[in-house]
Amino acid sequence: MTTSPLADRTTTAAARATDLSKIYGQGETQVVALDRVSVDFRQAEFTAIMGPSGSGKSTLMHCVAGLDTFSSGSVRIGDTELGSLKDKQLTKLRRDKIGFIFQAFNLLPTLSALENITLPMDIAGRRPDKEWLDTVIKMVGLADRLSHRPSQLSGGQQQRVAVARALASRPDIIFGDEPTGNLDSRSGAEVLGFLRNSVRELGQTVVMVTHDPVAAAYADRVVFLADGRIVDEVHGPTAESVLDRMKRFDAKGRTS
Ligand SMILES: Nc1ncnc2c1ncn2[C@@H]1O[C@H](COP(=O)(O)OP(=O)(O)O)[C@@H](O)[C@H]1O
Ligand SMILES: [Mg+2]
Repeated sequence: MTTSPLADRTTTAAARATDLSKIYGQGETQVVALDRVSVDFRQAEFTAIMGPSGSGKSTLMHCVAGLDTFSSGSVRIGDTELGSLKDKQLTKLRRDKIGFIFQAFNLLPTLSALENITLPMDIAGRRPDKEWLDTVIKMVGLADRLSHRPSQLSGGQQQRVAVARALASRPDIIFGDEPTGNLDSRSGAEVLGFLRNSVRELGQTVVMVTHDPVAAAYADRVVFLADGRIVDEVHGPTAESVLDRMKRFDAKGRTS
């Protein structure tokens, strides 16, 4: 199997991996973290990536987001081939075109919520689009918390700041690695709702790694990884259908 038939080659992709492989180490200690993965992340689509621990979820996300190098294959963000970029260009692309949300909120404690939201753009010397910023802040319900420091906000509110920060520069694509992993279920549901709204209402493209079927059900589709390969894909997932799929993998072993 060279190219996954699951990858849609016809519609516009915000990001695309083709035959992407990532091998750590050499010889006996070699680990194939990604084994010729081909996948499209289409514009204005919310994709969840699931799979057992060690299946390559973070590696896939990091390679597609330009945070890590890969061994072979190619990655595109929009029309830009990542493999062709020098370090500086890659840094600029990450800054201008990609938003990140991590499990840890990664806010600066001395800055207000608003300053945290606009920080990446301030660093880049870009002026935020005021109207867009207002839309984003309203959507995540932070209008009356903007002058608060992170320590004055709940975990859920802090992650909402991180979501607003990711959305503020209108990136081509937002990547989240277990963005609700540190939140209670109610705050998690809020953050997932905002991510889904950003896709439905604002046309944002979102890719989220999660191990939680309930979180995955917020996505438009779920891509399943096992042993560095894409082994299945579910469209219009529900928590039940995702759980069912996960159980079947466990029962059958990791076959593609
Ligand atoms: N820096 C590294 N050096 C060596 N092996 C690594 C490194 N990072 C990840 N791996 C291996 O690559 C595989 C995929 O890891 P990862 O992408 O983190 O999986 P997941 O996010 O699905 O838990 C695992 O076998 C892991 O041990
Ligand atoms: Mg991981």
